Amino acid sequence: MRTYTAKLSLGESSILIGKNVIEALQDIGNNYVALCSNKIDFGIVKNLLDDSKIIFLEESEELKDFRKVFELIRLINLKVKHELDCIIAIGGGTISDVAGFIASIYKRGIMLVNVPTTLLGMVDAALGGKNAINFDGIKNLLGTFYQPKLVLCDLRFLETLPTEEFKNGLAEVLKYCIIMDENFNSFMVSNREKVLACDEQVIEEMVYRSVSNKMAVVEKDERDDKELRIVLNFGHTIGHAIETGSMFKVKHGKAISFGMVCETYLASELGIAEEDLEKRVIDLLSSYGLPVSIKELNCDININLALEALKWDKKRRNSLFKIPLPTRIGTWRLSDVDYNSLKSCFMRCLE
Ligand SMILES: NC(=O)c1ccc[n+]([C@@H]2O[C@H](COP(=O)([O-])OP(=O)(O)OC[C@H]3O[C@@H](n4cnc5c(N)ncnc54)[C@H](O)[C@@H]3O)[C@@H](O)[C@H]2O)c1
Repeated sequence: MRTYTAKLSLGESSILIGKNVIEALQDIGNNYVALCSNKIDFGIVKNLLDDSKIIFLEESEELKDFRKVFELIRLINLKVKHELDCIIAIGGGTISDVAGFIASIYKRGIMLVNVPTTLLGMVDAALGGKNAINFDGIKNLLGTFYQPKLVLCDLRFLETLPTEEFKNGLAEVLKYCIIMDENFNSFMVSNREKVLACDEQVIEEMVYRSVSNKMAVVEKDERDDKELRIVLNFGHTIGHAIETGSMFKVKHGKAISFGMVCETYLASELGIAEEDLEKRVIDLLSSYGLPVSIKELNCDININLALEALKWDKKRRNSLFKIPLPTRIGTWRLSDVDYNSLKSCFMRCLE
């Protein structure tokens, strides 16, 4: 088992990684409600929670719609026959986003415990305190910063995760390897077969290194206002445009993979990338079966929708986009890129 203790503005937050770490739920007390995915192996959770305090949920983007979220708060109130001082999220990023949002506003904030059950949740969504729900069809429009007190990454959940969902999470893992951590990059290159075969020790190390990379940035820039946390956005400006342009048929991880390739090309075009960077990025992503070209996305992209999404990118200031770009493996630079340069690079990547 590995533990990362994050030092945050409102105190410490512990992240436990390994098999059976979910047993820490026994120390939570009785005043909780658990929002739980109906796709997980429930045997892992059974006996740790009181059945009457669990609300099972079907994960879909609709669950993040603000109306559904407020219906859920009503359901929580109907369930609660006691004082409520903790919400436990057991599921992927959809559930941790919804639970984090509710925990942050319920009685002005109650304890949040995240139990991520997808790889993407373990290495990204359940960490760092950002949460968001959708409003009037606009993804992630409403959200808060609210740190979980405890995150339990029980690796047994990954055993039932579909391969495509596992790959989704791998895209975020490889993001850390490309832009932040050369040593982790070497680890992922040399342990590829073990990762893909879900070797227990290698997966534990991979999740731990991902958590460490993300939380080291979050600790320094908890509210994303110091131009440090922005590094986590690598691949996401173009990735989000792809997700929108495909009407969300392309899954987040695949979109981010393609986005990282395009944004690496952009770094080369701006003359800030080392010569072999493009090849190393493409080779790494391909070796894990992630898409590196528009053809490999295997989906029609509506260019107008994609460009519209680019224009609405949250890191845009007037006509300039702030984009973290890799300069070589493990290092990056925040670049101000004008819309026309970004658009022309994006259009070339779509050819
Ligand atoms: N707040 C953040 O920092 C942050 C970061 C990244 C993503 N997100 C959000 O996270 C969401 C995506 O999260 P996700 O990729 O985890 O998807 P998800 O929560 O939709 O889960 C993906 C699928 O896997 C299933 N599933 C979950 N755990 C399983 C298990 N153990 N075994 C079998 N099936 C399982 C789910 O039912 C679902 O069908 C998006 O809404 C995104 O906006 C948030």
